[in-house]
Amino acid sequence: MSSHVFAPRGVVAPGRLFEDDGGRVAQLHGVGIQRHGDRFYAWGEDKTNGGTFGGVACYSSPDLATWTSHGHALAVTPDVPDLAPGRVIERPKVLRNPGGTYVMLLHVDSADYGDARVGWAVAERPEGPYTYLRSERPLGNISRDIGVFADDDGTGYLLSEDRENGLHVYRLADDYLSVEEIVSTTLAPPSDHPAGPHGYESPTMIKADGLYYLFGSDLTGWSTNDNKYATAPSPAGPWSEWRDFAPPGSATYDSQVSVVVPVHGSETTSYVYVGDRWDSGDLFGSAPVWLPMQVSDGRAELQWRDAWTIDTTTGVIS
Ligand code: DGJ
Repeated sequence: MSSHVFAPRGVVAPGRLFEDDGGRVAQLHGVGIQRHGDRFYAWGEDKTNGGTFGGVACYSSPDLATWTSHGHALAVTPDVPDLAPGRVIERPKVLRNPGGTYVMLLHVDSADYGDARVGWAVAERPEGPYTYLRSERPLGNISRDIGVFADDDGTGYLLSEDRENGLHVYRLADDYLSVEEIVSTTLAPPSDHPAGPHGYESPTMIKADGLYYLFGSDLTGWSTNDNKYATAPSPAGPWSEWRDFAPPGSATYDSQVSVVVPVHGSETTSYVYVGDRWDSGDLFGSAPVWLPMQVSDGRAELQWRDAWTIDTTTGVIS
């Protein structure tokens, strides 16, 4: 087990852990992040039990660096089959639907990853507690890693990895509680899938200056790889070819994308890349690799910093 090295409080130090207000390792793995007013809420995989479900942990922060724990937004629940001990729940992603309800989407799976479903839970407050609703294979497709995206007009999308067919962008119903249709599906280039066609996983999407950016990683388990992105004028595509946003061969600075967070400030909009440096022998202590990302003119590029802070009021990173 690796030793747990914390970042200085209030600072993002890629490769070092965030210490929460209780002095514990913040469980911000596979995290989803949304801004609500002047706070950022984060829902992460609590890896106390290693690879199996240990709860969805919720935190909030004014600066993406100082994290206050709100406990479990969704807890291990022995009498709910999807949430029982020994199950797999990954990549909790929350959107607030147009009616004001917080909707959590989840990768719901069995310990052997054979179930491959997406699940839903709802709450009236960002920190929950969430009421678990159900899981399904969207439109009958397998679904493992997921991401979510809400467009400016309120349309919600589920991004879902289906290795039999590719990475799907599904349009959600108006209340985000069900899947309506696939609007686009992308495949990795043949060089990335010698064993047969597949898309990317750990998907996330942003919109910058009217252009949509879709990020994902190759399918290499807990090992990191050179993550990619594609762009399109609409979530329905057509998507560009996939390309690197970190130095090729760096395995995305040894991390896997979880989300990219836009920080709209009074002076500028900054983008924060939020990645996981998984340690399969110590998932609990796997380090965050969070970095400024330059996004403009259809290009996205990570910028390495040993340590940094962001003024979330102005949007300025230093
Ligand atoms: C890669 C996924 O991105 C992770 O969330 C996790 O499911 C691992 N695979 C498990 O090997």
